[in-house]
Order: sequence, then C-alpha cells, then structure tokens
Amino acid sequence: MTAIIIDGVPIAERLRAEIAADAARFKDAYGYSPGLGVVLVGDDPASAQYVRMKRRACEQAGIASIAQLLPATSAQDDVEAAVEALNADPTVHGILVQLPLPPQINEERVLRLVSLEKDVDGFHPINLGALAMKGREPTFTPATPTGCMVLLREAGATIEGANAVVVGRSNIVGLPVALMLMKANATVTVCHSRTREIASYTRNADIVIAAIGKPHFIRGDWLKPGAVVIDVGTNRVDDPTAERGYRFVGDVDFESAKAVVGALTKVPGGVGPLTITMLMSNTMKAAWLIAQKLTM
Ligand code: GUN
Repeated sequence: MTAIIIDGVPIAERLRAEIAADAARFKDAYGYSPGLGVVLVGDDPASAQYVRMKRRACEQAGIASIAQLLPATSAQDDVEAAVEALNADPTVHGILVQLPLPPQINEERVLRLVSLEKDVDGFHPINLGALAMKGREPTFTPATPTGCMVLLREAGATIEGANAVVVGRSNIVGLPVALMLMKANATVTVCHSRTREIASYTRNADIVIAAIGKPHFIRGDWLKPGAVVIDVGTNRVDDPTAERGYRFVGDVDFESAKAVVGALTKVPGGVGPLTITMLMSNTMKAAWLIAQKLTM
C-alpha cells in the first residue's frame, strides 16, 4: 500500500481565505480590525520565528497583531503586566503567550491571567478543564491539536470508535489532542517516554498522533496497515546535503511508514500550517464574541 500524503498547505490556504473574508466582514460591521496580542519573552530563535510567522499570517488575513516583546531577563511581574495590558486593550481580541517561557517565569500563573474571552490558545485551565469534562464545551481549543483534528477529518478518517494512540503527553499537544479524540468518541491510549513497548500500542491503532519530539521515532513496522498518521514532530537534524546544513524531520520515519499506512502527513507542511490557521480562526471567534457582547 502507498499512503495518501496529507498536505496541510492547500487545506490551510482554503481556511485562511475563509478567515480573511470573515475578518473583512468584521471590519465592515464594526469599523475596526480584529486583533491578536502576542507576548514573546526572550530571544529563542525558534520561538521568535514562530511568532513572526503567526503575526505575518494574521496580517495577511486582515487581523492586526499587537506585540509585547520582553527581554529574557524579565521578572514575573513584567510578564504579568504585559498580559494585563493586552487584557485591557479593546483592540485586542485574542492573546497568545508564546511558550516556553524562561525558567524564572511561573507559566501557570501567567496563563491563568489571560482573560477567558481572549484565551485563543486554549491554555487557560478553565478552557482545558472544559475540554477534559463530559458534557462541557471549551470556548477555545489549542491550535495544534485542533489542526490535527482538521487533518484527520480532511483525510476521511473515522474517529468515532477508532483506536487512537497519542504518542507524547505535552500540555501543548499530546494531552489536549487526547482529550479532543476522546470527545470525538475514539478509544484513546496515551503513550509517552516511560511507556514500555510503545509499538505494541501503535500496531493496533487506526489513528496515530505522533507528538513526542524524537526524530524518526515511529517506524513503519510499528504501524497498522491502513492507519491514518498525523506527525506533529518538527525535529531539526543535521544534513550536509541541505543548503542550510540541516532539515526538519517528523517523529515518524516517513519512508518506512508510507509503505504501510493509509494516510500520513507531510513534515514540514503537514500540521504546521494548520496550527497558525487555527489560532487565526480562534481569534475571529473571540473577536465576534467580544464585539457582540459590547453592542448588546
Ligand atoms: N509553543 C509551541 N507551540 C505553541 C503553541 O501552539 N502556542 C504557544 N503559545 N506556544 C507554543
């Protein structure tokens, strides 16, 4: 079997065109643009690059971006003040605190401070709590897990009743995507760095979400024929043949997996473009909710 390769770029382009049209409708209705506030602490090159990409994509869609760029040496109070300023700013409808924060900053206290109605990353414990509970719906769900769900649906995967294995349990991807799959009625197993014999779980999985951050960790012989595999990994590996001297590879060994599975995401260009798109989509949802509340 040769797998269908899931390309996130055209899917993201289609959704971004819809978001741009929505942002234009919002501006027509209210006379101002929707806005995303961004907090970036420190100068980690990968985080700075992600933030640049998020801001650029927003601006291309007609969503303003308002940045609070703080030095790596910032104190807890400085970061909290930046969040409070965005909470109070009426031109800001969504707030993104880029993670990870420097070690001296208490992440939990910062994320708890984000106004619930502007929590477009879905990392506030009340939004994550609603995601975890039966019969509750969060206002916002985290961007990368939501992107994974969009790609599963685009690939035609049956989620209800499926055996889904999530490899990785981070707060940003593994944990919330497991909760989203459970809400969508999959039978979910979460494997992680302490799991014994991960292959014994993945071999029975109709759906695999790979989010463990280890290059080529999951090989074709770990996967079930016909499975749908979403690879969230973006691991930088040395590659002397590449112009930059490195390239990005996923958590799944693409070549061996594609001979076995039914569908597999590209890396890069699979989940990544959806992550930014889902953030923009959440920002539009926040903008409409806030603006409608103000005019009620
Ligand atoms: N760091 C890595 N991924 C993410 C994300 O989706 N949101 C935020 N805020 N930080 C991240």
